[in-house]
Amino acid sequence: MNAQVPVIAAKFRGHFPEKPLLVVSPGRINLIGEHTDYNEGFVLPGATDKAVVFAVSPRPDGLCHFVSHDFNQEFRCELGAFHRSPLRWPDYLQGVVDQFLKAGHRVGGFNCVFGGDIPIGAGMSSSAAIEGGLAFALNVLFGLGLDSLALVKLAQKAENEFVGVRCGIMDQFINIHGREKSVLKLDCRSLEFERFPFEREDLRIVISDTLVRRELASSEYNVRRAQCEAGVSVLRMHDPSVRSLRDATLDLLGEHRAEFDPVVYRRCDYVVRENIRVGDASAALVRNDFAVLGGLMNLSHAGLRDDYEVSSVELDALVEAARRVPGVLGARMMGAGFGGCTISLVEADAVPEFEARVARDYEAAIGRAPKIHVVRIEAGTHAVEGV
Ligand code: GLA
Repeated sequence: MNAQVPVIAAKFRGHFPEKPLLVVSPGRINLIGEHTDYNEGFVLPGATDKAVVFAVSPRPDGLCHFVSHDFNQEFRCELGAFHRSPLRWPDYLQGVVDQFLKAGHRVGGFNCVFGGDIPIGAGMSSSAAIEGGLAFALNVLFGLGLDSLALVKLAQKAENEFVGVRCGIMDQFINIHGREKSVLKLDCRSLEFERFPFEREDLRIVISDTLVRRELASSEYNVRRAQCEAGVSVLRMHDPSVRSLRDATLDLLGEHRAEFDPVVYRRCDYVVRENIRVGDASAALVRNDFAVLGGLMNLSHAGLRDDYEVSSVELDALVEAARRVPGVLGARMMGAGFGGCTISLVEADAVPEFEARVARDYEAAIGRAPKIHVVRIEAGTHAVEGV
């Protein structure tokens, strides 16, 4: 049982008399395949034990009453009369309800208390956990009968339209489809996926948080998307079957290099190579070859830093500190970038040394301590029994 469940259930009891539906909605890691999802490429994420817990119940009137346990704030709005909030967190929730209504689903008013332990804005997808968790909860609460994929798409649209980040589908997809002890290779074009076991008892996934949050992340994210689209337009002049960078090869790119803006070229080159790495990484998982996986993670970081240019001094410092620790198989920045966290694959025995040395080296380089979390791969969004 997620340790947050009794906490959120108790908080709900403090506000509302009825018995709530309880839902656990995880954050995610991504082993490899960064900035590939919106290029219709491949990703290799897993859901984590870090999660947001929701306690939700229907109301007879048309009010949506949200209580954030972590911020100790409340927000109320009438169904359909949504408005962006300076508090920010209500937008992720309102966006979801808005999408249900826009799609014609019969959602009524409700009470909602939520909170959790996913580091916020750190690249572990706390936003998709909020969107996916509420979408899942409302689907159950109002008996809408939507399938998993419909919930994923609705949650993604909430982020695209209400929050205004043109995110891809990875985060919402893994939030709903994650499974314990396995990662999922998702084809972000067809949405077909394959699960790969990740159950080596001698290895740990370690998340190191720079504790730097950059506002730049969402504006630069949209710039990267536009640069990828610009690259596709160049290639389409020669081969109209290229619909996205998913269809590009290194040969095709190389052949037309002179026609590209040099920055756009580097962006596209990174994406094509990263897609190839996801294929190589899943093959390595099948062979149980984690040394190869670690090497691919290192290459991914180099591409994100030098060619896609979404890393930061802090992220690079964490990655370098991690790689100096014996027993680290690979490390890279994770998520959209500019701040947030890194993911390292670490031998279980080496974790205490990792925690001590990475904290010390990062502090020496950056002047503040990072936050380090060892995470487990757990199930996607699901309902749990009360306590
Ligand atoms: C964010 C987005 C995802 C994905 C990653 C980068 O997490 O929400 O869709 O694009 O960045 O891989």
